This record gives sequence, C-alpha cells and structure tokens, in this order.
Amino acid sequence: MTSSQREGERPLVSTEGPQTQLTQQSSPEMWGRLVACTFALDGVREGHSQVSPSSSRAVFLVDLAEERSPETSLAPGKRLEPVHLHAVSDTSVHVVLPAGRGADLTALGWGEPHQYEDFGTEFLIYGPRTDAELDVVLAIIGESLAFARGDLLVSDPLGVWDRRYLQLDQLWSGQPNGVLVAEAHGLARGRVLDVGCGEGADVVWLAENGWDVTALDVSLVALDRAAAEADRRGLAVTWVHAGLVEAALPAGSFDLVSAQYPALLRTDDALAEHALLDAVAIGGVLLVVHHPAPTAEEALAHGFNLDDYVGLAQVAALLDDRWEIEVDETRPRHVATGGGSHHTQDVVLRARRLG
Ligand SMILES: C[S@@+](CC[C@H](N)C(=O)[O-])C[C@H]1O[C@@H](n2cnc3c(N)ncnc32)[C@H](O)[C@@H]1O
Repeated sequence: MTSSQREGERPLVSTEGPQTQLTQQSSPEMWGRLVACTFALDGVREGHSQVSPSSSRAVFLVDLAEERSPETSLAPGKRLEPVHLHAVSDTSVHVVLPAGRGADLTALGWGEPHQYEDFGTEFLIYGPRTDAELDVVLAIIGESLAFARGDLLVSDPLGVWDRRYLQLDQLWSGQPNGVLVAEAHGLARGRVLDVGCGEGADVVWLAENGWDVTALDVSLVALDRAAAEADRRGLAVTWVHAGLVEAALPAGSFDLVSAQYPALLRTDDALAEHALLDAVAIGGVLLVVHHPAPTAEEALAHGFNLDDYVGLAQVAALLDDRWEIEVDETRPRHVATGGGSHHTQDVVLRARRLG
C-alpha cells in the first residue's frame, strides 16, 4: 500500500455535473496503459458504468456480482461496481475504499472524496502522469477490489469509527452501561480492560469505583473525548489506541474484560474472540454485552453485513471447560439518549476463567 506523497499540486476537479478531472490528466498513451493494465488484473472484466457517463468503463469482478454491502460499490443496488475509469479527456479513476484509507490517500494527494459520496467510501483518484504513478494508481485499484471482496475489512475500522464520532460532538449517552454497573457490583476490584471504550462513560465509572482501568479503542477521536473527561475528574487511566487484536495485550492480565457493544470484525481464525478470552486472568471475568442480533436483511438495510462482526455466539463457542458461564441471558434495557437508545434489550454473556 502506498504511503508516499503525490508530487506537485492537486489537479483541478469539476464541482458540477459528473465529477471530472480538469487538469493534469494522463497523457493518451499513459491512459491507454492504465486501461490495459486495469483490465489485465486477475478476476476482472470490463463493462459499461451503471452510474457514470457512457464513456466510462466499469471494472466488474468476474466472480462477485452482488455487493457485500452498499458502501463497497459505486452503484449500490446494481451489479457490483467497485471501480470505474473515466474517458481519455478526464482520466480520473473512481473507487471505493475503507473511509480511513481513502482519507489517508486524500491527505497524500492521490485523490479526494467523491463529490457524490453516500457512504464516505467513494473516492476520485487522479489519473497517473508517470510510470511510478501508474503503479500507485493500479495498486489503489487493487485495494478497491479487495475492499469490495471483503479482504480489506481488518484495516477499515479506524477511519470508519473516527468519522462516525466526528459527525457529532457526543455520540453516546454519557452514562455508564447498566449491565456493566450491575455485573461489576459484586466483583472484587482489580485490573479491568474496557474493549472499545468509546467516549469513556464506563471508563470513568470504573475508575471512580476503584478499578485500575485500561481503556482501548481504535478511534482516537473517541479516546480524546474519554481522556478529557477522565482528566477533568482527576482519574488515572491507561489508554490504548489500537484495535483489540493489533494491541497484542499481555495474556491473562485483567480481572475483568468488559466489551460493551463491541464492533469487532470476524476473521476465519477468530482472532478477536481469542484476544478477548486471552486477556482474562485466571479467576477473572469476561463480560460481553450486545444488542440482540438483527436479521441479515435489517443489518444490510443499516449498511453492514452481520457476518462481518463478532457476536456473542462466536465468543460463547470458544468457552471450553476452562470457563464457567455465569450469565447468558437477555435483559430489558433503558437508555434515554444517545446513539443506540432505541434498543430495548441487552444480550449478556458473563463467564469466569477457571484455568
Ligand atoms: C458501539 S461502540 C461502543 C462504545 C462503548 N463501549 C459504549 O458502550 O458506549 C463500539 C466501539 O468499538 C470501537 N471499535 C471498533 N473496532 C474496534 C476494534 N477492532 N478494537 C477496539 N475497538 C474497536 C469503536 O471505535 C467504538 O468506540
């Protein structure tokens, strides 16, 4: 993946009509190579763009015609179209990318958010001017195809969550989660890990109630808000800016691992589930709380694929005879404000590590 800066000024891009690159276009020869190399990539075929001017070429995947979720296509609801190439008079390349990756490429000067973005994942990449730029643009097209296939998900959360937090000054209610308060009540105070701590309402509550808190989240925006509130109250907290898996925390080091509505991505080898379990000390407790799972159709209507995320069932499936399940139930939930307040039930899994 490129992390180099594109040289020179950005090209001018139109702000009306179909989004078009107005200056610094690829030469006709370079554009011809861009088209030829793109359609020589494995597993793609050329088609007519379903959303762009008729001179634009769509890059379709041979073996995947349906989008995984709408943000992975430039033509949601139609044949999956992760990429299209504009004509020789324009030479820009339109792609879908994880929002964080697209923001990085924008900052590095390779492109900009698409004028007609719906999901924050659509980007315009400038046409290549040199051989070296052609390599970069082809690699970005490769990233876009991988994103459409679902292969780039693991690198996705950072940008997505920061973006989500930045939309509002405060996303969640600011109140500690009811299940955490209830379940922590009878536990001996010790070291606690808050996985996906968000804006830190649980962190603050735990620290004020005698816990030694490590708070982890992929979103720096959320962690900044959490740390500001903890500082305001004079609370000492260990902050970790990382995904749960990438953080590679020392095994068996927390008396309580709390994951409240975690948005952990699933992998074939269950990395996130193992990371949750491994973090718990012998004798310690794992507490995972979720909203009741929507149907696959409801999830897709909200722009995500249920199968992409770790649910309680995936965690419970790994609890062998070294664990005792202490709570496995659905409870009523009452939260008046903030994101998620429409949910009226919590699904609760609490397990103690025996050995
Ligand atoms: C639904 S929010 C819940 C926030 C908080 N626990 C609460 O109850 O208010 C999910 C949180 O998980 C974070 N997150 C997403 N992917 C993550 C990952 N791989 N590792 C750690 N945190 C992650 C997000 O940034 C977000 O803050």
